[in-house]
Amino acid sequence: MARTLKEALSNVLSAKELSNLYSSFDTIGDIIVIKVPDALQQRKRLIGQAILENLKPVKVVLMQKGPVSGEFRIRELEHLAGENRTTTIYKEHGCSFLVDVAKAYFSPRLSTERLRIANLVKPNERVLNMFAGVGAFSIIIAKAQPECKVVSIDVNPEAFRFAVQNARINKVAGRVNTILGDAREIIKSSDLGKFTRVLMPLPESASEYLDDAIFAVEPSGGWMHYYTHMHSENEDEATEQVESDLRARLNTNHEINLVKVVREVGPRWFQVVADIHLT
Ligand SMILES: C[S@@+](CC[C@H](N)C(=O)[O-])C[C@H]1O[C@@H](n2cnc3c(N)ncnc32)[C@H](O)[C@@H]1O
Repeated sequence: MARTLKEALSNVLSAKELSNLYSSFDTIGDIIVIKVPDALQQRKRLIGQAILENLKPVKVVLMQKGPVSGEFRIRELEHLAGENRTTTIYKEHGCSFLVDVAKAYFSPRLSTERLRIANLVKPNERVLNMFAGVGAFSIIIAKAQPECKVVSIDVNPEAFRFAVQNARINKVAGRVNTILGDAREIIKSSDLGKFTRVLMPLPESASEYLDDAIFAVEPSGGWMHYYTHMHSENEDEATEQVESDLRARLNTNHEINLVKVVREVGPRWFQVVADIHLT
């Protein structure tokens, strides 16, 4: 049995073809999602079958047909081989997540970032996750810090449904309050209280929600973790640009403690996080 995609496809593709395919694929539980370049479309089922037969523990091979898009940040998928399903169980940092890769956003590529944030949370914090998806950040935080409380918001009813189940599966439902709705509306309209830490993991449009996040932070001070996408020549330029954009936007007392690239999301496109301390 092969251990890597390269080994699994070595009898089906040339080294050059393989490098194209290899650059972008995700393994989520027992589902693998691949992108198939136009030149290989004719052989997509053969590729799917070879992955299924040769790569453990893959039981489903899906092809991503377009970019992650729309308000719910989901992607169109085509079944290539294996069981015909899009749900799976994904394990990360001692937590299990029920995920439907077709109906709600989920990326295993944020794993290191989720743990980084969880390790920053102190006892008795109140954490707001404005764009929670299936609840991964929120649940990993609640598990890592048993004396904190988390509120998770998502506007996608499917993401909400999975986030509720995931809080139960991981036995943190008593401390993770999951809410369906638009983060801005919920922050404005309901009596949520204020938070020591606000997460904004919606890089495509988090900048539109900066004022809402600031409103949600405790008046005595707290943290914001702001995610954005930046197009630039290199990582240093990307972080410098994000920091200067934030300084121009933030009109409350603040310190920007860290700005770093989380991952590259395309040619010269970077996902950047800024840890902002409102004082
Ligand atoms: C990039 S995903 C979040 C990923 C998640 N934090 C994780 O670690 O898997 C962004 C999420 O924001 C949700 N969303 C988009 N606009 C929103 C809004 N205005 N209010 C609340 N949720 C929103 C989408 O449905 C999507 O699930």
